[in-house]
Amino acid sequence: MSLSNQQLIEAAGQFGTPLYVYDAATITSQYQRLTSAFAQTDTKFFYACKALTNINILKHIKNIGCNVDCSSINEVKLALHAGFEPSRVLYTSNGIHFSEIAEAKELGVHINIDSLSNLEKFGEQYGHSYPVGIRLRPNIMAGGNIKISTGHDKSKFGIPVTQLDTILAVVKKYNLYIKNLHIHTGSDIKDVDVFVKGIEVLFDIIPHFNELESIDLGGGFKVPYKDGDAETDIPLLAQKVQGAFANHPNPNGKPLQVWFEPGKFLVSACGYLITEVNVLKQSGDITFAGVNSGFNHLIRPMFYDAYHRIENISNPTGQEKTYTITGNICETDTFAWDRKLNDISEGDLLVFYNAGAYGFEMSSNFNSRYKPAEVLITNGQMQLIRKRDVFEDLLRNQIE
Ligand code: LLP
Repeated sequence: MSLSNQQLIEAAGQFGTPLYVYDAATITSQYQRLTSAFAQTDTKFFYACKALTNINILKHIKNIGCNVDCSSINEVKLALHAGFEPSRVLYTSNGIHFSEIAEAKELGVHINIDSLSNLEKFGEQYGHSYPVGIRLRPNIMAGGNIKISTGHDKSKFGIPVTQLDTILAVVKKYNLYIKNLHIHTGSDIKDVDVFVKGIEVLFDIIPHFNELESIDLGGGFKVPYKDGDAETDIPLLAQKVQGAFANHPNPNGKPLQVWFEPGKFLVSACGYLITEVNVLKQSGDITFAGVNSGFNHLIRPMFYDAYHRIENISNPTGQEKTYTITGNICETDTFAWDRKLNDISEGDLLVFYNAGAYGFEMSSNFNSRYKPAEVLITNGQMQLIRKRDVFEDLLRNQIE
């Protein structure tokens, strides 16, 4: 399911470019793919909203019945603002000041603590009174590239599983109520066995926590960015997770719920970044097509060498030629090298696909350029859900 060129051209005509457009139906269908694959298991999904936090996206996620995972106290507050009940909000922290955990506790959300120091402080303050989760580092290397790998033995995330004895000592000292064990090994994980490996690491740890209610396997499902690209096989994952738990019933008797925190899987494909070609420039055998955007709007190609499919929706049947697609930032900001695209003229609209996750969310005002507007399409209705910046936004908060 995807938006048609016609819808994208209409959105660009109505709201200008560069423009982020999101399709609510794609989010819904991605969520349904997860829930139907895991229908036989007691599984909960928490949307990792760091991928895209526009309040209207959060409301849509809430309305379709998905929960939400947050990576800062502000994301927690946005989720509550969107109308999520605290019981549907998870705060998976990393490297944060204890005051944020205290605030999250006051707000009544689920919390995963990722350091011994904060676990100790939590124990001192709340003892057994507030059930809490522990974020563990499983020492598993996984993910599309090192920048998005979080579970390996040099990663800052989580408490290393090798420190289990110390964790248990803290839990015992304060009689902590540990209800959840969390791991997240990375992003763009296509191999479902990575998740199984994670579960196996947890099986050795689970018996030490007799009040455990859930196991949280994080996010990281891979989405296809181009034709022929692999994606995580979700039905196979469901089958393997179910099999792993069937072979290892919780020794404490309680069936354990399984949690996941998908970000990209839910919102990557729903998003489109529409740009307009400012200039064509020939240099030897290279043809640059420079668009009215840059890594200030979509950083993934420059930051992670990520591939985003690009189409010239103004001339979809034109003859194919090879282009290098660049932005207008005063620094190298190449979106794609040597990419075959239908013949481009200045003024054409180039669309970047899979721009929903970590697109707008990682945008900036670098070069004092405006952040794009955002539009959400629900049931065929286009709704502006964020205005494009204006000049005053650049001066806002500056003290002259
Ligand atoms: N849970 C935790 C604890 C995480 O740290 C993340 C992502 C997720 C869930 C969701 O992962 P996802 O399902 O979206 O792969 N900006 C990078 C991705 C960084 C992911 C950071 N953590 C990118 O654009 O590829």
